[in-house]
Amino acid sequence: MGIVIAIDGPAAAGKGTVAKRLAQELGLAKLDTGLLYRGVGFAVLDAGGDPENGEQAHMAAKNLDPAVLQNPALRLDAAAQAASKVAVIPEVRAQLLDFQRDFANNPPPLDSGEPAQGAILDGRDIGTTVCPNATAKLFVTASPEVRADRRYKELLERGEKAIYARVLEDIKERDARDQGRSASPLAAPVDALVLDTSEMNADEAYAKALEFIRSRISA
Ligand code: CDP
Repeated sequence: MGIVIAIDGPAAAGKGTVAKRLAQELGLAKLDTGLLYRGVGFAVLDAGGDPENGEQAHMAAKNLDPAVLQNPALRLDAAAQAASKVAVIPEVRAQLLDFQRDFANNPPPLDSGEPAQGAILDGRDIGTTVCPNATAKLFVTASPEVRADRRYKELLERGEKAIYARVLEDIKERDARDQGRSASPLAAPVDALVLDTSEMNADEAYAKALEFIRSRISA
């Protein structure tokens, strides 16, 4: 079996950026698992439903259309909030589990057509639930204020309207929901390297992550 890297952490901690660079460096197929939950949340909203309704959310997870995952609307705040609501529902999590494990165990080829050396998954419960036997686990975090500041700048760069106080409020609300749920709550796996990036730039975070992963691969 190939290398499996698990990256978890709260909203806007920079997991995606680190995961992308690691995937390129190590030749890994990458799965942003947050997108699956965003896809389910968005599908419920799009059908005029309620993301907190267990039955509707479960059906949306069961019928998730991979094409939805390309929709730019998934990046909007409404999709993120809906994602964290459907993510509380155990049937939704169970429904998405097989796909994630299958991706980790049988990663698709890279964009270049070359076979992948393994997989890298980022989310909230990869190291604890989806891939407990991962080669290396990282928990990327930062203070809520730093994360809100990064997300705020990202939104402005994308040309979207944003208010810092609202972004911070949204992040705190999602953190509370993600940490407080009983099904696979957000928590650092005991065997993870915890990277607090509050006072680190993206290059420093990436360098530390790569050093740790290399040490685990050669162990
Ligand atoms: O990009 P950002 O960190 O803001 O969020 P995301 O990774 O796209 O995840 C959106 C929401 O999906 C999170 O707030 C979680 O509630 C949920 N999620 C989850 O429960 N488990 C995962 N493995 C990934 C995401």
